[in-house]
Amino acid sequence: MADKLIIFDTTLRDGEQSPGASMTKDEKLRIARQLERLRVDVIEAGFAASSNGDFEAVKSIADHIRESTVCSLARANDRDISRAAEALKGAAHARIHTFIATSELHMEKKLRMTREQVLEQAKLAVRFARNLCDDVEFSPEDGYRSDPEFLARVLEAAIAEGARTINIPDTVGYAVPELFGRFIRELRERVPNSDQAVWSVHCHNDLGMAVANSLAGVKIGGARQVECTINGLGERAGNCSLEEVVMAVRTRRDHYGLEVGIDTTQIVPASRMVSQTTGFVVQPNKAVVGANAFAHASGIHQDGVLKARDTYEIMRAEDVGWSANKIVLGKLSGRNAFKQRLQELGIDMDSEAEVNAAFARFKDLADRKSEIFDEDIIALVGDESVTAEQEHYRLLALDQHSGTGERPHASVVFAAGSVEHRASSEGNGPVDASLKAIESCVMSGAELMLYSVNAITSGSTESQGEVTVRLQHGGRVVNGVGADPDIVVASAKAYLSALNKLHSKAERVAAQGWP
Ligand code: KIV
Ligand code: ZN
Repeated sequence: MADKLIIFDTTLRDGEQSPGASMTKDEKLRIARQLERLRVDVIEAGFAASSNGDFEAVKSIADHIRESTVCSLARANDRDISRAAEALKGAAHARIHTFIATSELHMEKKLRMTREQVLEQAKLAVRFARNLCDDVEFSPEDGYRSDPEFLARVLEAAIAEGARTINIPDTVGYAVPELFGRFIRELRERVPNSDQAVWSVHCHNDLGMAVANSLAGVKIGGARQVECTINGLGERAGNCSLEEVVMAVRTRRDHYGLEVGIDTTQIVPASRMVSQTTGFVVQPNKAVVGANAFAHASGIHQDGVLKARDTYEIMRAEDVGWSANKIVLGKLSGRNAFKQRLQELGIDMDSEAEVNAAFARFKDLADRKSEIFDEDIIALVGDESVTAEQEHYRLLALDQHSGTGERPHASVVFAAGSVEHRASSEGNGPVDASLKAIESCVMSGAELMLYSVNAITSGSTESQGEVTVRLQHGGRVVNGVGADPDIVVASAKAYLSALNKLHSKAERVAAQGWP
């Protein structure tokens, strides 16, 4: 029986720390549910002490997720650890992940603490956490740039206090594979009680080597947990990408000799969900989840694949969840067929009212688009993930004119609560005119940080456009997403969806700063 590699997903914590990727509580829960379908072993749901919003998000995930372990990050102090424990109370399997920096640079310049103080604080934190939770993970932040001898003392103490997992972060993405692998191996050899903990690696991608470094940590160093994120989401150049690590270990089982418990067919749906929620588009040539990852354009390749698939393919697209743009439903499909398809796609709706609202949107779409694909349904449900109470602004109608030599003009009708508003504006293009019309009425004062359009299904101009709008206002950054066959309408929906998030007090999930 092969050893197991534990997959620890930190999309909702380290991934969310990426500027502009902050998510609402409901969005986080939706992604956590998908991570559970993906069967990740541990979901790092957030950093409970960083804000009330993040506390609520961790709590909600802990209350709903039953299979995966739910984890909260906590600095090495009693307040953070107590908040984490409180948020995790409802979890079926809970983990507290506590950390303190151990590199000279971080201890001296950031913490202003001596080595002995850091050692003592690490011990106290793990001891305190173990009194509240059986499953405790300890990380020495900036571990890879720490003095190995000092680091070994801290880790030995953390294990002695009861840490079950020791995670070594390459916080700034400085490592290279061979050196990182050896670093982990030598550290394990140096720590006398190393066999009493699972060793883990946590690599950032600043030099584009997060996946390679993590795999070296596993193969050379003997780590048995990898911390990673969907699509490699994360601060700066991101974190180690879950899909790449999982498929590398799965495809090269001959080399790694390890099992992963992941349901790989859920990888692409998870990638889409994270990309749609955060507005971070996946590059087409990204391994495993990029739109071109399984596309063969050259004649020689196509010919080879048709004769024998494995001439040019080392993985099967369907094994990672790519479905061949299946036409699933159409104009004549009924509510039951729609509901069943939602279930097949693993989409849980909390109430019949939610199903009805999504079905109404589906009917509306089917009137305008002859072929409805799985991707269309996922986008439609994305629209629906905003509950009525959060949907203060709603698009009712949009009319726009543009043409060569004409100044584009748009008129928009939208609801703000129970009040109907009409607004018109000119703009550089029809999208610009529509957003200006809405803004002339709402006067949010928000700054537009990102606008992007993507075709939901590839290969046809009939596809729906999916627009992401990122707004910044009063220290908050929010993403709005809208989908429609008409990209001007999709843009107005995305803008209103972002305004809804700015408007909603209940959804104030502050991006996780270090409070
Ligand atoms: O990169 C890092 O050092 C971290 C730790 C908090 C684990 O994210
Ligand atoms: Zn990190």
